[in-house]
Amino acid sequence: MKKLYIKTYGCQMNVYDSARMADLLAPLGYAPVENAELADMVILNTCHIREKATEKVYSELGQLKRLKQRRADEGHPMLVAVAGCVAQAEGAEIVARQPAVDIVVGPQSYHRLPEMIAKIARGARIALETDFPAEDKFDHLPEEQANNGPTAFLTVQEGCDKFCTFCVVPYTRGAEFSRPVHQIVHEAERLAANGVREVTLLGQNVNAYHGEGPDGKGWSLSKVIGRLARIEGLERLRYTTSHPRDMDEDLIAAHGEVEKLMPFLHLPVQSGSDRMLRAMNRGHNRDDYLKTLERIRAARSDIALSSDFIVGFPGESDEDFQATLDLVQEANFAQAFSFKYSARPGTPAASVARQIPDELKSERLQILQASLVEQSHAFNRACKGRVFGVLFEKPGRKPGQAVGRSPYLQPVHVEGAAALIGRLASVEIAAVLPNSLKGVLVADRVTAH
Ligand code: 5AD
Ligand code: SF4
Repeated sequence: MKKLYIKTYGCQMNVYDSARMADLLAPLGYAPVENAELADMVILNTCHIREKATEKVYSELGQLKRLKQRRADEGHPMLVAVAGCVAQAEGAEIVARQPAVDIVVGPQSYHRLPEMIAKIARGARIALETDFPAEDKFDHLPEEQANNGPTAFLTVQEGCDKFCTFCVVPYTRGAEFSRPVHQIVHEAERLAANGVREVTLLGQNVNAYHGEGPDGKGWSLSKVIGRLARIEGLERLRYTTSHPRDMDEDLIAAHGEVEKLMPFLHLPVQSGSDRMLRAMNRGHNRDDYLKTLERIRAARSDIALSSDFIVGFPGESDEDFQATLDLVQEANFAQAFSFKYSARPGTPAASVARQIPDELKSERLQILQASLVEQSHAFNRACKGRVFGVLFEKPGRKPGQAVGRSPYLQPVHVEGAAALIGRLASVEIAAVLPNSLKGVLVADRVTAH
């Protein structure tokens, strides 16, 4: 067997793509390993969303170059491939800057990896595929290998047509595309048969999903969720990431109606200022967003909400930033991610004159994060005494202990639960720790799945 090491950066869609690349290379004799040291092939599955993420790739490539040389000196050739969004956006630059790289492949073309490996084996200096091919990569991927855990990602939608002015995704992942329903159902059924209990449906704009259904009509995400909820063995469904504009009535209603749909929703808002939201081309204002949250909470009162924020977008004034802090207070999030604006080459906002100095961005980020952390701590504290369904995923640090996730994605440690790994059980939350919860097994009286 040849050894394959895949390092994954960035979002969950990359995690899914990495798993599919491993599936694709298994018939060629590649088996996954945990580090690059003895690998015959290394794939960096990269992220381009912020400058920092991209920089990491170049510094990793510097190290790989030395490793590749050392391996070659020992008589072991090593293939180096760059996949993902940096490959898509900066393919030619990678080839020019990093002679150690053999293969550059974008997120829509990785089904061609076997041909590309063959091309290198025939003596080509470089194999590069960064077009958006006409064929659908999903038609060219093998069935996924047995999953090694009770949770799995399933990509249902890719790409984005929204063109937020800060974002590279429409350029790196291309136009919005939805997989047909039958493909998704088959994949979910196979996952369930392999012991998966929780599936997270993925898409850059997952709630804009509009794939072809078995009736030949376009199906919405809520309809797909309804269909997947009928699969025996699948006990939990989630989806991410959603756009506020695409939270339609049916999807909101599904949160009240589909028991398997977890009461947790990640709904990025980016800013609380209407002026900034307009400059970001978000297609919604602050009021629209807050009204959407209200409707979701009316459908499912115990839902926990999560969001993404960008501080220091070009032209952001103190008042604009204050509006974001105000929105946080009004919305009350269980969890959130926040970032300093990072100018991305080729995006409209990068060429705007009024860029914000880094110190001011840092200051604002700190203030915003303090407020978000306070909210998430309050949310976690309020979980004490509640009884949740916990899906146990892996052993904990102590003997007999197991770690699982609550419906709200919080890690929960439970003693004497090791035999329950892979299963869902009722747990009473006994203590709230800084980054996790501690619980005890109880007889079935689940208040939230
Ligand atoms: N700078 C900072 N954050 C960004 N994001 C997307 N593009 C940028 C950028 N240029 C953030 C958004 C998005 C999350 C995935 O990353 O908040 O929701
Ligand atoms: Fe990027 Fe906006 Fe599309 Fe999200 S909706 S992927 S932030 S362009």
